[in-house]
Order: sequence, then C-alpha cells, then structure tokens
Amino acid sequence: MHEQSDGPDGFFQRLGGFDRRLRGVIEKLKAELEKPSRRNARQVDFLCAEIDRLTREYLLFLTALNTARIAHEAAADTPDEVMNVKRAWGIVGAQTNLFRLEINRWATVRGLVQEQRQARRQPIYPPQAKLAKSTYTQMGASDDVFHWIHAMLNPSEQSEAARDHDCFPDIALANSEFHEHLHAAHRVILAQRRTGPVRFLDVGCGGGLKVLTAFRYFPQSDGFDFDPAYVAAAHDLLAKDDGLNCHVFEQDALTFDGYGNYDVIYFYRPISEERLLIQMEQAIAAQARPGTVLVAPYVSFPARHEALGCGHIGGAVYVAGMSQKQANSLRIKAERMGPYIVKPDDAPLSSVWDPLLDVSRANGYDIPNRYEKPRY
Ligand SMILES: C[S@@+](CC[C@H](N)C(=O)[O-])C[C@H]1O[C@@H](n2cnc3c(N)ncnc32)[C@H](O)[C@@H]1O
Repeated sequence: MHEQSDGPDGFFQRLGGFDRRLRGVIEKLKAELEKPSRRNARQVDFLCAEIDRLTREYLLFLTALNTARIAHEAAADTPDEVMNVKRAWGIVGAQTNLFRLEINRWATVRGLVQEQRQARRQPIYPPQAKLAKSTYTQMGASDDVFHWIHAMLNPSEQSEAARDHDCFPDIALANSEFHEHLHAAHRVILAQRRTGPVRFLDVGCGGGLKVLTAFRYFPQSDGFDFDPAYVAAAHDLLAKDDGLNCHVFEQDALTFDGYGNYDVIYFYRPISEERLLIQMEQAIAAQARPGTVLVAPYVSFPARHEALGCGHIGGAVYVAGMSQKQANSLRIKAERMGPYIVKPDDAPLSSVWDPLLDVSRANGYDIPNRYEKPRY
C-alpha cells in the first residue's frame, strides 16, 4: 500500500504548493516592475533566482512523480487494479504536464523581466542622427510611397465650400514623422497609467490614412473632416476591414463639441486662416480633459500652447490642463517607458505569467518574437 504522500493525491497537493509559491513570487516581482522609477534591481534579481530555484525543484518533482507512478503500477496485481492506478495518476499527470509547459516559458519571461530591472530613460524623440544612413533613406522612400497611397485613396478635389471656409486641402504629414509623434504620445499615455481604452482623434482627417495608422497604437481611432468627399474616401478605406475600431464623420472643427471624449487629439494645421486656427485650438484646449495628449506638428503652436494651459512634453506632443513643471515630470516618466507598441494579447488561455506580461506591456515591453517580421 502506498503512503498518501507517495500517491497521486500527495503529488497533486505538492503541485498546488508549487503553483501557490510561484504565484506568490510573481506577485512580488510584478509589484517591483510596477514602480515607475527606483526599482530595486537586486530585489528583481533575487526574485528571478527564486523562480529559477522553483523551476529546478519542479523538474526534480517530475522525476519523483514518475518514479512513484511506475512503482505504483508495478505493484498492481490485476488488470482492473492497473486500470484504476492509471486512472488515478492520469489526472495529476495531465496537470503536471500543463504546469511544465508554463515552467518552460520562464526563460522567455525572465528575459523580459531583466530588461526592466532598472527603469532606464530613453528620449521621447530618439535623435535621427543615430539612424543608419540607409535606414534614413528607406524611411524617405517609404514616405514617398505613402504620399502616393494617400493621393490614390483620396483623389477628390477640395470642395468649394471647404476652400471658402479657409480649410487646407488634404495635405498629408509624412508617414514616418507621424509615427514619431504617435510613438511619443503612446509612451506618454503609458506613463499616465490610464485604465480605460485610449481614444484617438484626427481633426481634419482627409482620406483617413492617419486614422488607420493610429489604430495600430490606440484601440479606438476616429477622425472627422469638413469636406464631405474626403469623409466619403476615408469611410471607404476604413470599411474595407470590419475588424477596425475606427470611425469617421463630417464635422467642422470650429463647432465640434466632443473634444472631451478623446485621450489623444491630433491636429495638423487644418485651417489656413490664423484667426480661425487659434479659435479651433482654443476650443480643443477648453474642452479636452486635463491630461489629454495633444499632437500639433506645425510651427505656430509652440508659441501658443502655454497661454492655452498646455504643457510641452517634447517635439509636437503637449498635454492639456498641465503646467510646464508637471509636463517635465511626466516626460521623465514617459522616457522610462519601453519601446514596444504593444499588440493586443491574442493568447487563447490564461497563464501563470500573465501578471508579469501585463505589467511589462503596461511599461512598453513585450516578448520580442511577437513582433518579428512575417516570413513566407
Ligand atoms: C493638412 S490636412 C491634414 C490631413 C491629415 N490629418 C494628415 O495629417 O495627413 C488638413 C485637413 O483638415 C481638414 N479641415 C480643414 N479645416 C477644417 C475644419 N474647419 N473642420 C474640419 N476639417 C477641416 C481639411 O479638409 C484637410 O483634410
């Protein structure tokens, strides 16, 4: 007769013990990574070593379990008894295998944790001088292609009504420049530790390509334009895929009363007449909730942001309802956010590592192989 501790029930209990101990260490590690600054790197290393030890222990536990199971089966006298023994070990066997799969992922998760052991600062706008010349040239070529696509998607002439209303036509900001601003805005959003889904708005969206692009960064991306033909083109583009959470509508930026519904507002000098442009900026600044990230990549905004009560983060990124001192401290936090533009988690099952994956993604880090270029 096998002692309880040597039988399937005993191993089942020991498996539960592993699971609890591992989850306990993971929670402590998560608490460390949640800190925006002054992480205790030694504590991170210590907790990683704890998990290393647990994984080694687990492998020994698996060997002990197999030995016990084989001995138990060998001691069975009749075919019925063998069947009962196999059934009894079957459940604990399945659970231990599942847990082993989890344990096997530790090496990957460990790398992710180690990347964050000290929250190092990286500039919100990395200097272009550091790019390889060939990369810089490729970006320029890609921008040219995006300009062609932009023109193909929205071939309409500007309407007379739009011209009379001092609207600029649909002139695209360079694609690579837009990504620089979006990336900076994204890191500010991460640093703000927001909880709800982030909503992006393009004020004067033209043919909608920027609305689509921003959807890679934020879970909701909307845009509006004064010109009905532009809105129709944007609508056609975004209707091509029903998985997009993007909406476009006809609207005058000067009379819109929904700026308060967005977390990131992008306006690339839609209006040519300075007096009206200022009126639009005032409407945005008055309605935007404090903390709303504004992306305004044109020459006259830097001279006006302060009077509008917006703090400057860097480049074309500002934050509404914020003093410059507050903006400086937010920029430092944003600089500590990682470089990943995190994709939504598509894993079908939950995992013991989820708390670490979640906190890493909230810090702008993720598992690199989720971002490898597809190879066909
Ligand atoms: C310079 S383009 C920007 C296009 C696109 N957002 C981009 O960044 O590539 C300006 C756009 O703003 C729109 N626009 C101009 N005045 C507007 C207004 N008062 N209300 C809404 N849209 C306006 C124009 O029709 C045009 O499509």
